[in-house]
Amino acid sequence: MSDYQDTVLLERPEEHVALVRLNRPKARNALNMQLRQRLAEVFQELSADTDVRCVVITGNEEAFAAGADIRDMVDTSAVEMYLRHTERLWRAVSDCPHPVISAVNGYALGGGLELALNTDIIIAGEGAKLGQPEVRVGIMPGAGGTQRLARTIGKYQTMRLTLTGEIISAQEAFSMGFVSKVVPDAEVLETALSTARTIASMPPLAVEQIKEVVVHGPDASLEGALLMERKALQVLFASDDKVEGMKAFLEKRKPSFSGR
Ligand code: HXC
Repeated sequence: MSDYQDTVLLERPEEHVALVRLNRPKARNALNMQLRQRLAEVFQELSADTDVRCVVITGNEEAFAAGADIRDMVDTSAVEMYLRHTERLWRAVSDCPHPVISAVNGYALGGGLELALNTDIIIAGEGAKLGQPEVRVGIMPGAGGTQRLARTIGKYQTMRLTLTGEIISAQEAFSMGFVSKVVPDAEVLETALSTARTIASMPPLAVEQIKEVVVHGPDASLEGALLMERKALQVLFASDDKVEGMKAFLEKRKPSFSGR
């Protein structure tokens, strides 16, 4: 395998579940351009794979990811930054139709935290450390951190985190509402995988519709978003899995979902 491919490892630990591992351990999984390009490629592949129903993304014990690679940015001009069009790379993650779970141990800082914020569920270990410290190196979040945090935890906590660069614990991030669950460090990956297993056992069309409405609804007016929700629900009434799910309940048996 090439160095490029090695920056992100893709595994299929069980049926319908994909596991993506960030793999630059010596640099605390700092997100250099190679890794980000490879990550986008992996997510494009997973998005197109209808056998995949849930994705888990993780790092290692020390770091989920310590941010964008500062070595990659120290001599970079504004025009070069523009021409990198990294928004396209991040979009490959946020556009994934399958739910994505971040399993966070160690540091999730800067672009590393933003990567997690681009996903749908964040499971963090008790020892995880999260923050947006970009201001300390003269820049600011650029992969959605200011906006996704402000829309999740509000202006006042977002200002505190982004303006001071303070690094906080998983428990504090959980209290603020941007970590879904805190578990002992050793149980992070297994908790994420078992959550993925549960999601993968659900009817996939319902899962994808729920994700779409939860992600896009908040950008619309409440009336528009409620309409979006109703339409998504109505579409599900055309699915075989709706018939199977409801019949199985009434017949007191386990449903067998086909994904149609
Ligand atoms: C490049 C990094 C890095 C980073 C760590 N390393 N973070 N390299 N970019 N973001 C490298 C170090 O240079 C070092 O390399 C090795 O990883 C180990 O790091 P140490 O600092 O020795 O480890 P430790 O003492 O355990 O401290 C870990 C740490 C610290 C707290 C995570 O490394 C740190 O503060 N990193 C920077 C965090 C940060 O500022 N992130 C935001 C980046 S800006 P050597 O070769 O010396 O062993 C950003 C912008 C996003 O994310 C914009 C949109 C994408």
